[in-house]
Amino acid sequence: MGVIERLAAGERLSLGEWRSLIADEETYPSSRLGELAVSVRDSIYGRRVFIRGLVEFTSYCRNDCYYCGIRRSNGKAARYRMTPESILETCVRGYACGFRTFVLQGGEDLFWSDDILVPLIRNIKESCPGAAVTLSLGERSDESYGRLRDAGADRYLLRHETADSAHYGRLHPSSMSLDGRKRCLWTLKRLGYQTGAGMMIGSPYSSVDTLAADMAFLQELSPEMVGMGPFIPHHDTPFRNEKRGSVALTLRMISLVRLALPHALIPATTALATASDDGHIQGFNAGANVVMPNITPQQEREKYSLYDGKKISGEEDGSDLSVIFDSFRKAGYEASMERGDYL
Ligand code: 5AD
Repeated sequence: MGVIERLAAGERLSLGEWRSLIADEETYPSSRLGELAVSVRDSIYGRRVFIRGLVEFTSYCRNDCYYCGIRRSNGKAARYRMTPESILETCVRGYACGFRTFVLQGGEDLFWSDDILVPLIRNIKESCPGAAVTLSLGERSDESYGRLRDAGADRYLLRHETADSAHYGRLHPSSMSLDGRKRCLWTLKRLGYQTGAGMMIGSPYSSVDTLAADMAFLQELSPEMVGMGPFIPHHDTPFRNEKRGSVALTLRMISLVRLALPHALIPATTALATASDDGHIQGFNAGANVVMPNITPQQEREKYSLYDGKKISGEEDGSDLSVIFDSFRKAGYEASMERGDYL
């Protein structure tokens, strides 16, 4: 059996096999991987792409990741913190527009204790019946993850960023570690969250080997969601002069993740749409099936700057859904506002 057939049969591949799938464009052309990925995706989810409302509720962060615009040491980053009331209001407004998933995303901001988050999550679940709450708040204690889950949180996004520990150490200060990140991901799974991992593509010092490690780790963890986007430099970070990740490689990785994890919910990310005008559609045509329009109130939105040129309006703007939905329909995809749980 060939490597792709074994992958389709659910087998774990070796690092060497992953390296070939990632890098050997001759034997495995991206166009073919994309077609296979689309047929796998279509057989499970059809042509629906699921829409999530993204609320970027705090730009404070205690971490100092070398790639990220809201890193602690960036004295030029504009900082804001929405109030719990305005987060709830944003979700209620989104609910009226039809959103059934809210993604609360922020830096690792210690203001957000469990005592503040628990009632907020309860209030959102109560005011928005049937909606899913997805958290993306970084690393917390097992106990905290448990309390937030008990309060009603359904899903949690925590990219592993890279599954190669030496590479992880070149992207983050020594206060952070790949082991710590993996522990959090395993805890989230154990607690019953639909769990999202993922990595930037083309981040500094990444290679075919680090991507192969990512794929092996994703096969092991088997997350319900996988977020991937090209690395895009931010001018106020240590990586300001590094080069942007490739869109083509990002699309190829989306296809490989779809083949490895057929049921995964895979977003066509904002970073992908920032790097390429047609990013969402290209992402779908590579096997993605989720989009996360930004529904953060406008005055905060501009301040949540992870990388340069991040889209804050147009296709990313949750207030003009019909425009993006029409563009999806023209490409053969039906935007779905359903909860869109993992099947
Ligand atoms: N380029 C692309 N993606 C980035 N992220 C953070 N900084 C950048 C950047 N410069 C991604 C990280 C993080 C997610 C919220 O945004 O992968 O997990």
